[in-house]
Amino acid sequence: MTDLLTPVLSANWGQDHSWGIDAYRAQGGYDAVAKALALTPDAVTGIVKDAGLRGRGGAGFPTGMKWSFVPKDNPNPKYLVVNADESEPGTCKDMPLLMASPHTLVEGMIIASYAIGCHTAFAYVRGEVLHVIRRLQQAVAQAYEAGLLGKDIQGSGYDLDIIVHAGAGAYICGEETALLDSLEGRRGQPRLRPPFPAVAGLYASPTVINNVESIASVPSIINRGAAWFSSMGTEKSKGMTIYSLSGHVKRPGQFEAPLGITLRQLLELSGGIREGHELKFWTPGGSSTPILTPDHLDTPLDYEGMAGVGSMLGTKALQVFDETTSVVRTTLRWVEFYKHESCGKCTPCREGSWWLVQLLKKFEAGHAVDGDVDKLLDVCDDIGGKSFCALADGAVACVTSAVRHFRPEFEAGYATPAWELFPYGRSALFPVAEGGHA
Ligand SMILES: Cc1cc2nc3c(=O)[nH]c(=O)nc-3n(C[C@H](O)[C@H](O)[C@H](O)COP(=O)(O)O)c2cc1C
Ligand code: SF4
Repeated sequence: MTDLLTPVLSANWGQDHSWGIDAYRAQGGYDAVAKALALTPDAVTGIVKDAGLRGRGGAGFPTGMKWSFVPKDNPNPKYLVVNADESEPGTCKDMPLLMASPHTLVEGMIIASYAIGCHTAFAYVRGEVLHVIRRLQQAVAQAYEAGLLGKDIQGSGYDLDIIVHAGAGAYICGEETALLDSLEGRRGQPRLRPPFPAVAGLYASPTVINNVESIASVPSIINRGAAWFSSMGTEKSKGMTIYSLSGHVKRPGQFEAPLGITLRQLLELSGGIREGHELKFWTPGGSSTPILTPDHLDTPLDYEGMAGVGSMLGTKALQVFDETTSVVRTTLRWVEFYKHESCGKCTPCREGSWWLVQLLKKFEAGHAVDGDVDKLLDVCDDIGGKSFCALADGAVACVTSAVRHFRPEFEAGYATPAWELFPYGRSALFPVAEGGHA
């Protein structure tokens, strides 16, 4: 079964001091920089395009194509911004990658910056993860010492500075244009598009924003070639990726495998659902992606497969819930998160997420009344597709999909509290206080 795994990004995670530059270089680290600098920037972009790499931050936009949108005739500086805000509930791939192998990202940033003609690149890291920020800062300092950053990198004539920037811990600052506002020192709120960041992004200059995993995938593509990368995965979803399993599984963690693997296969790799229990529902890519059920165990975990069953691949954060879990309570917890993280810029999301929480609390407490399920869907309809950014679409996706698959469980909330139907202590992975259901 383990032959399904394709460790590339995670290949060195088990090594002694894998985060240091010596261990990284001993495994061929930074060889790809030398190779890339010997090519033209367009050739580097071409390789990434041919590889078929798609952004790993959620939307799956082709990475090489994004780089090629940067206008060459624009006199302003070009910027690369790496999105290391990782805040989506369930998502936990970028932080482990940065802890175990920060140089993979630094190397990817050098190559990507070269390809787009950038001389100042930023890594925007979620503020709470101080240990990750320190580790990345240390890696950047080591790269400067080794002559891999700064002026005239490896005698190539190419200059690059990398700035590690700590955010302040707001989910919305993972949305790329809110991130740019935050990086510029403003309150992080999404910007109106167009103009798109590739034309007018950071400081109104052409900017490429990519997820950590997207950029960290670049060195291996340059080293081993586009054909090697695209030989993995499925027709339109190429390469390997990191799947994060959490929840009611025996061995949660990161599993690096080709796109198109199924949850059934990942569950086998992770020892299966916890003893004596069975799968009830799961998210394919974090809480913003519509939930799925055991019916979808064999659906390929790639962009097309997930879209085909009404969900999304998202960040490949598979949160797994067994039959002890209340769908109503889980949905409420997720929506409470979105309500808290709504930036408040637009009314449907700011007010609507508040209303969703009020309604879901009624279901949880068994105080909902006949017609409240339809009211819940009606409020979702007022929010989804009618708000300024995708945070709101994510907030309603968990509600509408939960009702679609588990409507009777919501209707049970007309009479019975969720904590009576699903005593919370049973689903807890850690001991909970006696009688506690908060
Ligand atoms: C509310 C919200 C939060 C997001 N958070 C992240 C994040 O933490 N990390 C990330 O890479 N992308 C996040 N995204 C997606 C980014 O806007 C953007 O699509 C991504 O960084 C592009 O990189 P990629 O093309 O390499 O995937 C978020 C989007 C939204 C709407
Ligand atoms: S949808 Fe929500 S998070 Fe996005 S801009 Fe509107 S209020 Fe802010």
